[in-house]
Amino acid sequence: MSTILEVKNLTKKFDDNEVLKDVSFELKKGETLAVIGSSGSGKSTLLRCLNHLSPPDSGQILLEGVNINTPETDINSVRADMGFVFQDFNLFTHLTILENVMFGPLRVRRWSKDKARQIATAEIKTVGMLDKIDSYPAQLSGGQQQRISIARALALKPKLILFDEPTSALDPELTGEVLSVMTDLAHSGMTAIVVTHEMGFARSVADKVIFIDQGLIVEQGPSKTLFSSPQHERTKLFLKNFSGLE
Ligand SMILES: Nc1ncnc2c1ncn2[C@@H]1O[C@H](COP(=O)(O)OP(=O)(O)OP(=O)(O)O)[C@@H](O)[C@H]1O
Ligand SMILES: [Mg+2]
Repeated sequence: MSTILEVKNLTKKFDDNEVLKDVSFELKKGETLAVIGSSGSGKSTLLRCLNHLSPPDSGQILLEGVNINTPETDINSVRADMGFVFQDFNLFTHLTILENVMFGPLRVRRWSKDKARQIATAEIKTVGMLDKIDSYPAQLSGGQQQRISIARALALKPKLILFDEPTSALDPELTGEVLSVMTDLAHSGMTAIVVTHEMGFARSVADKVIFIDQGLIVEQGPSKTLFSSPQHERTKLFLKNFSGLE
C-alpha cells in the first residue's frame, strides 16, 4: 500500500500554549487512523492544521509526497482533497440536501452542473438518504444531518476524510447510524482520520491509533496492539478511565 499522508515534526502554538509538539505519523492509502486523547490534548487542532483551517507553525505535511505546508499551497484544493466532517454538521440551512452536497463539486471543484448532480446523488445514496434529497437540514435528525455532511465530504472525491468527533453532538440512539456509515466507508477503502471518543469504533474499525496527550503523541500503533497491550503509563491510565465509563 502506498503512503498517502506523511506528517513530519508538526508544531502549533496559540500564544505561549504549545498545542502540538513535534507530531509525526504516516497513513497509507485505504487506512483508517483513530486519534484518541483527553479533552484539550490537541486532537481538533491536529486535524485543523492538516487542512489549514488553522495553519501549523512548522513541520511538513506531505500529501502524496507533496509538502502542502508552504505559502504557495492552494488552500482550497487542499481542503477539497481532505474532506472535513465537523462535530456539529455545518450544513447550509437555506439549501436543500442535494444543493448542500452539490455545493463543493460546483464551487470548489468547478465541475459541470450535470456531473455535480450525478456525483452528489450517488453519495447521498451511499449514506442511505436518497428519500430526503429535496428536504432542508432542519427537517432531518442530527444523525441524518451528519450522514449528509459525510456525503458532502465524499462528493468532493477527496484523497482522505478528516472526522472531528462526528458523533459527539448526537443523542446516543443516533450515533449507531453514523458509525455504521463510517464503518462501511472504512471497509470500502476510503482513507480516513477519525478523532473519536468511541473506543469500540477505534478498536474494531481503525487500523491504527494515535494516543495524544498535551500535544504529544505518547503512543501510536496498530489498534489491536495499542488497545490490548498499551506500552505507556499515560495510555494505560487513559484507557482504564474510559473502560470505567463505558
Ligand atoms: N483558536 C484557539 N485559540 C487559542 N487556543 C486554542 C484555540 N484552539 C484550541 N486552543 C487550545 O489548544 C488546546 C487544544 O485544543 P483542541 O481543541 O485541539 O483539543 P481537543 O483534543 O480537540 O479537545 P476536545 O476533546 O475537548 O475536543 C487547548 O488548550 C485549547 O484551549
Ligand atoms: Mg476537539
